[in-house]
Amino acid sequence: METTLYVNTNLATMSSDVSSDYGLVEDGALAINDGRIVWVGELSKLPQQYAEPNCKRIDLEGRLTTPALIDCHTHLVFGGNRAREFELRLNGASYEEISRSGGGIMSTVKSTRELDRQQLLDAALPRLDAMIAEGVGTIEIKSGYGLTVSDELKMLRVARDLGNLRSVRINTSFLGAHAIPPEYADRGNDYITEVCLPAMEQGANEDLIDTVDAFCEGIAFSPAQVARVFDKATELGLSVKIHAEQLSNLGGATLAASYGAISADHLEHLDAAGVDALKEAGSAAVLLPGAFYTLRETKMPPVELLRQAHVPIAIATDCNPGSSPMASLLLAMNMGCTLFRLTPEEVLAGTTCNAAIALNLHEEIGSLEVGKLAELSIWDVDHPSELSYRVGFNPLFKTIRGEK
Ligand code: NIG
Ligand code: FE
Repeated sequence: METTLYVNTNLATMSSDVSSDYGLVEDGALAINDGRIVWVGELSKLPQQYAEPNCKRIDLEGRLTTPALIDCHTHLVFGGNRAREFELRLNGASYEEISRSGGGIMSTVKSTRELDRQQLLDAALPRLDAMIAEGVGTIEIKSGYGLTVSDELKMLRVARDLGNLRSVRINTSFLGAHAIPPEYADRGNDYITEVCLPAMEQGANEDLIDTVDAFCEGIAFSPAQVARVFDKATELGLSVKIHAEQLSNLGGATLAASYGAISADHLEHLDAAGVDALKEAGSAAVLLPGAFYTLRETKMPPVELLRQAHVPIAIATDCNPGSSPMASLLLAMNMGCTLFRLTPEEVLAGTTCNAAIALNLHEEIGSLEVGKLAELSIWDVDHPSELSYRVGFNPLFKTIRGEK
């Protein structure tokens, strides 16, 4: 198979083997064969075997190459929208009032149940395309707006359909434990027994689930209930992750870490013990500045403690119709810097190498290293800090993915 060689590019390899910031290699070259990176480094050090005429050579005219971006936390598949609630809140209604009148997550559950598989797919595609247009090559998508066995499976099938329709990797999370539907009001344990666990089992049997997620919060599921969900996931051989410590500290991250969670997400209220638990378990911390922004939160996630503990920090959109109606990972990166005071290098790590860790895909993607899949995004910028610096501007030149 012919090798393709990309030249005249600066490479933000995001590899820990390269000692410069961003793992930056100036005037780099990158060779691809059979969909994998076979050589990467300074052009001046290119081995003879990759020189012309042995390879097809492509001149990137000085552009920046990064690993294709990874959005490791989204609720991209859903019906309807909640713009009317946004408007009501700005006219003085409280979140609780809206929720009591059938709004909030339940209004999205209603709209999602009403759509069939094709309609749900049609609703999700523009959001997916917006992300792909910004250099995203891998997107995690959760269920959690169906909350019946058939509607949860429908959401997961749509997520898989999206991956077949576009050149993007879709990683699915089963979030049956997202909210307690009205038909199970005050009967959360019955909901878990009768809906959540059977849906998980069927989804696993049909290979629709990559990881199991749960929302551990006063308004959702208690740690004891989440433990039931994670016990079943473990029995089925599925990895787990958690929405935890978003609005309060229930110790969800520590619970998830005890199951070897691949990530714990949100984490504004995470304390030092929770940070230690994540460190011990090797879990990633996924920070979601879009939800922090939309809900006008003031409690900052413990960024400095996470840094000191060397917990991998990832950044994601949390794309959903309620708390983060955002389909721009570049904007999430900008918000990670502006709102959470992360550096541009940290937010790029948060959407490449560390996001790959958060999805347990770091053996295959997330950095430009020999042996990894050749999934690259090429940008019309001079320096990687430009990716998180601008707002509302997309400098993507092209994404390379699945090219042999
Ligand atoms: O990740 N935290 C829980 N779930 C979503 C919000 C869901 C919604 O409001 O529709 C989140 O923020
Ligand atoms: Fe979420």
